[in-house]
Amino acid sequence: MIQSHEGNQHDHNLLVTGGAGFIGSNFIRYLFEQTDFSGRLINFDLLTYAGNPANLQDIQELYPERYVFVRGDIADAATVKAVFRRYDIESVCHFAAESHVDRSIKSPDRFIQTNIVGTFQLLEAALSQKAFRRFHHISTDEVFGSLGHDGMFTEETAYQPRNPYSASKASSDHLVRAYANTYSLPVTISNCSNNYGPYQFPEKLIPLIILNALEGKPLPVYGDGKHIRDWLYVTDHCQAIWLILTRGVAGETYNIGGMTERENLYIVQRICELVDELARPDADRPSSELIRFVEDRPGHDRRYAIDFTKIRTELDWQPREDLDSGLKQTVEWYLGHRDWVNQVRTGEYRTWIKDHYGEMK
Ligand SMILES: NC(=O)c1ccc[n+]([C@@H]2O[C@H](COP(=O)([O-])OP(=O)(O)OC[C@H]3O[C@@H](n4cnc5c(N)ncnc54)[C@H](O)[C@@H]3O)[C@@H](O)[C@H]2O)c1
Repeated sequence: MIQSHEGNQHDHNLLVTGGAGFIGSNFIRYLFEQTDFSGRLINFDLLTYAGNPANLQDIQELYPERYVFVRGDIADAATVKAVFRRYDIESVCHFAAESHVDRSIKSPDRFIQTNIVGTFQLLEAALSQKAFRRFHHISTDEVFGSLGHDGMFTEETAYQPRNPYSASKASSDHLVRAYANTYSLPVTISNCSNNYGPYQFPEKLIPLIILNALEGKPLPVYGDGKHIRDWLYVTDHCQAIWLILTRGVAGETYNIGGMTERENLYIVQRICELVDELARPDADRPSSELIRFVEDRPGHDRRYAIDFTKIRTELDWQPREDLDSGLKQTVEWYLGHRDWVNQVRTGEYRTWIKDHYGEMK
């Protein structure tokens, strides 16, 4: 169990934005199940296509006094301010974002609205709170652009975003730093590499490949499949965020990485092997025969790699899960949660959201 520092963040009102999404819901689960957090957590989420309240149904039932869900848009100033006042918010862990690069290429406007304007509204609301402790902003390594064969991103690397998603995230990072510098808001930022694990929406590479392989559908791989990402199991990311929130130094940025650089094609082939081993032991042909190379994404960054020396030396964090066991657990999770997958893919959960909250504005 991670102990937080005395008098620090364990017993206060924490606003988590985007807590119904992939990393946010894993973070909330992690907080309730694996830390000494004893305060009240307000999950503020718009429930876009990527947000699914079923991700946290058990937490809601187990902790009715300490877990509160509020549906709302972080870009809506009046709602954001009202939530800060009503729940006397003392810290923020800001995950909410439009997060899919392909969607940002097709329709960037929502990315500008949520990722930039939304972050701005949260910063403004935090500034107006009397006893505000910490604003932690979750960002990505994609703000640094693309690497060649060598080198790694450090906290000093200059920003060079190359698609609307990473440009909107870079912009939000700059705003957060500006609020620290100009108004002395106590902020921290983390820039993390690619995450994988349970509850990831099946449009992203790893769950997409698991589910298509299971169903004998083509396995699309962009370009030559040699794009390199540094993969991190989501619970390791959650642990790093909690450490930064409770022990990180205000004004600082921390890079978080998995030390696991792999080509996309390697990841796809490894998933094929795991699916064949765990779910199709009697199949005639290996799932890898379903791999199809498709036209590359425009402006596709070639390689990302994170140097996380700072968080390792200052906060004693490093990833615990290795890629093989993490991927195996992830494949097993998707195999064991077919109801969740069906709900998400058929859009059934959207009907539930509509019944509970009405149509999205
Ligand atoms: N997934 C990764 O590999 C990765 C890596 C590094 C950093 N990040 C960052 O981590 C954060 C979470 O990523 P994720 O993969 O969990 O994303 P996700 O798309 O799974 O979840 C995003 C959540 O934000 C909510 N949301 C979207 N717009 C909103 C709005 N206007 N108001 C309130 N809520 C809104 C959605 O409903 C959803 O629940 C993002 O900021 C992303 O940039 C992700």
